Amino acid sequence: MGADIESILFSSERIAERVAQLARSLDAAFQGTYPLAVGILKGSFMFFADLVRAMSLPVQTDFMCVSTYGSGTTSQGRLTIKKDTDASVAGRDVIIVEDIIDSGFTLENVRRIFLERGARSVTIVTLLDKPSRRTAALQPDYRGFVIGDEFVVGYGLDYAEKYRSLPYIGVLSRSVYEK
Ligand code: IMP
Ligand code: MG
Repeated sequence: MGADIESILFSSERIAERVAQLARSLDAAFQGTYPLAVGILKGSFMFFADLVRAMSLPVQTDFMCVSTYGSGTTSQGRLTIKKDTDASVAGRDVIIVEDIIDSGFTLENVRRIFLERGARSVTIVTLLDKPSRRTAALQPDYRGFVIGDEFVVGYGLDYAEKYRSLPYIGVLSRSVYEK
C-alpha cells in the first residue's frame, strides 16, 4: 500500500490535534443545546467518531449515506440518498460532519434537504476543504485543513473503497488512477 501513497499530508497526531480544536469550538458554539450530528457515510466515519468523542457537549449521533453519480475522482450529477437519517431533523440544530468538500455539490444538496425538512440550523464541519475545485456556492462553517487540488486518501477517505483504514491522510499517486 505504501507505494500507492505519494506523500503523507497529515499524520495521525496532527489530525488528532486539529480534531480536538474543532471539538472545543463546537462545544462553545453549541453550549446549552443538544445538537444532532449527522455523519456523511462512508468517508466521515473516522473523523465523526473522533470528533464526537472529543466533544464535552452531549450530541445525538446519526448517519446519512448519499452518492453522487460521477466517475473516479470527481463527483457531479444527481444526489441519491442511500441511507437516510433515523432521527427527524425538524426543529433540530444539525451538525453535518463530512470528510472533504470538493465541488460542494454533495453538501449543498444535503443542506438544502435538511432545511426543507425544517432543521432549526444547519452547520457544516468538514475535515478537509479543497476550495480550488468548488463549483457550488457552499462554504463550511468549520474546517480542519485546506488542501490543494490533489486526491487524498486515508482516515476514512477512499479511492475505489481502498485506503480508508489508513491512520493518516496521504496524497494518492496519480499512477493509481491514471491507468
Ligand atoms: P463534492 O460533492 O464534490 O464536494 O464531493 C465530496 C465527496 O467527494 C466527498 O465526500 C468524498 O467522498 C469525495 N472526494 C472528493 N475529493 C476527494 C479526495 O481527494 N479523496 C477522497 N474522496 C474525495
Ligand atoms: Mg464523502
